[in-house]
Amino acid sequence: MAASSRFASLGLLLLFAAHCCAVFLASAGAAHGRPGAAGSALSSTFYDASCPRAHDIVRHVIQDARVVDPRIPASLNRLHFHDCFVNGCDGSILLDDDLPVIQSEKHVPANKNSARGFPVVDNIKTALERACPGIVSCADILALAAEVSVELAGGPRWRVLLGRRDGTTTNIQSANNLPNFFDPLDVLQQKFRDVNLDDTDLVALQGAHTFGKVQCQFTRQNCTGGQARGALENLDRVTPKVFDNEYYANLLQGRAQLPSDQVMLSDPAAAATTAPIVHRFAGNQRDFFNNFAVSMVKMGNISPLTGSAGEIRKNCRRVNRRGY
Ligand code: HEM
Ligand SMILES: *[C@@H]1O[C@H](CO)[C@@H](O)[C@H](O)[C@H]1NC(C)=O
Repeated sequence: MAASSRFASLGLLLLFAAHCCAVFLASAGAAHGRPGAAGSALSSTFYDASCPRAHDIVRHVIQDARVVDPRIPASLNRLHFHDCFVNGCDGSILLDDDLPVIQSEKHVPANKNSARGFPVVDNIKTALERACPGIVSCADILALAAEVSVELAGGPRWRVLLGRRDGTTTNIQSANNLPNFFDPLDVLQQKFRDVNLDDTDLVALQGAHTFGKVQCQFTRQNCTGGQARGALENLDRVTPKVFDNEYYANLLQGRAQLPSDQVMLSDPAAAATTAPIVHRFAGNQRDFFNNFAVSMVKMGNISPLTGSAGEIRKNCRRVNRRGY
């Protein structure tokens, strides 16, 4: 796609995103019963005065990191998802164990030996603290990193909404309920609906499996090539490093890696719900990009802490002051 047409469509998208999300925020906050979260909206200009280079700084650290580890953009993108689905986008996934009070979400099955990129988040935080101490939350770092990562891999750009604050607790029960690769379609749909994400969001966001890696024991082939458990494969076996719509073409060929990918086409309930969306995105990358960006903004709006709720962590792995 020509850069100019991408930008033209982005303009429309941003108008649309600005509209959809003010409305969405109120309902997302309310649905999760977080006092204080519902009233105040996130904003793309939140750090314009207090930390104008925030996006650039995040971008530079990720650019450096991916030279050493090309998988980093995918890994960081996934962290925002695993953060937002648990307790809202509050940086809870970044907290290390501080027992008995803080039990880290990093140990639940969906994250253990799987969620990665934490040292890069630390490096981003260090760089931001140097430039603007005490200003940028860890939850916002994950939102910014998720966008930068997609952009660097050739995917869409969008204006990240900012102003989240960091939580001071984890939620193991909720982390144990993250979407699972064995979940049937109706369960995936329900888990997404629970955070106000619809079928289009589900199909668009799973498109993030256009980059990054998967351990063979999670794949439909299940290491039957004789690989050891933990052996890494590409999630998109055709264009593994590029953020494009090839993921949906793979699905149409029955070649998705995860059971939870393929169900969007193969489940009996798919024909009336997700399958037409898979076909749409397979046939039109711009349509996919526009929807992916909108859905990422929606996901980033799940129950943020704003105003004076929570805190701005100094170290993303620890709450600032332990009141215990
Ligand atoms: C719908 C439910 C989803 C399920 C069941 C699921 C499951 C998985 C699994 C099992 C892996 C491989 C982990 C490993 O082998 O260690 C993975 C990787 C990944 N997921 Fe998902 N995922 C889902 C949705 C999403 C969403 C919504 C996003 C982002 C918007 C996302 C982004 C990624 C990325 C980028 C990777 C590669 C990470 C890396 O290489 O480090 N996933 N996912
Ligand atoms: C892979 O095989 C193991 C052992 O038979 C089984 O427990 C596991 O559920 C399988 N995983 C997948 C993704 O099919």
